[in-house]
Amino acid sequence: MVEPSLSIKGLRAGYGSLDILNGVDLDVPQGQFVALMGPNGAGKSTLLKTLYGMTTVKGGSINWQGKDISALKSRAILAEGISWVPQGRCNFPVMTVDENLQMAAYTLRDSKVKAERDYVYNLFPILKTRRNTLAGNMSGGEQQLLEVAMAVLQRPKILLVDEPSVGLSPTAIGIVFDELLRINAAGQTILLVEQNTKKAMAVAQRAVILRLGKVIWDGRPADITHDELGELFLTGRMRGETDVEQ
Ligand SMILES: Nc1ncnc2c1ncn2[C@@H]1O[C@H](COP(=O)(O)OP(=O)(O)OP(=O)(O)O)[C@@H](O)[C@H]1O
Ligand SMILES: [Mg+2]
Repeated sequence: MVEPSLSIKGLRAGYGSLDILNGVDLDVPQGQFVALMGPNGAGKSTLLKTLYGMTTVKGGSINWQGKDISALKSRAILAEGISWVPQGRCNFPVMTVDENLQMAAYTLRDSKVKAERDYVYNLFPILKTRRNTLAGNMSGGEQQLLEVAMAVLQRPKILLVDEPSVGLSPTAIGIVFDELLRINAAGQTILLVEQNTKKAMAVAQRAVILRLGKVIWDGRPADITHDELGELFLTGRMRGETDVEQ
């Protein structure tokens, strides 16, 4: 068995005195593509933000490659190999693609920036063709790819991606997900939060469902139907079950 590279146990976290995560347990082995789903307000974004050091951790642990990172600041977490693509547009719209990637390389020494930008262009050739275009003038799909590329430039060991499909056309969603699949096939571990359950279930090796700040289902996409997923989102239970949600 592959050892989990990320191991979250009994994680409780939130904003100030507000608790959102109420005991999350989740292991992510290296190389896995995990889709985290659940109803609005379930705490999906909060979980990613917590992994990236942006909320108040109240209890439990986040073990990353043998080290508890739950008290680290975002900058240190990034240095540990965790990159985050937040929900919503997060590029610099009045800067070109090239300049956006340069901004994303702020943690690197100047001598390394060009090489890392070229690495990203190699990985995402679409962006290379748009390198002198203002990010804000690109399509939503291209902007989302740029945002993924800005995170990938850090050469993360795990990539946290929050809702990349929001506001995109079906074609653009297809392009973004194809790229995520491609980098996963090359070894990139991905924890993806996604409302587009159909798409998420098609690409991920594993589906995790969060509801009211807890994991209520964890398994292979093939082991759950869309109807069952809908039922879980709504009620926290599978049909005929009474004990999923406590
Ligand atoms: N900065 C914040 N301060 C206070 N409460 C917040 C903050 N961000 C989110 N919340 C609250 O935390 C809860 C969980 O929000 P979160 O964004 O994690 O949900 P989500 O599962 O990502 O939902 P969605 O599918 O709508 O993106 C919500 O009740 C939300 O109002
Ligand atoms: Mg969210």
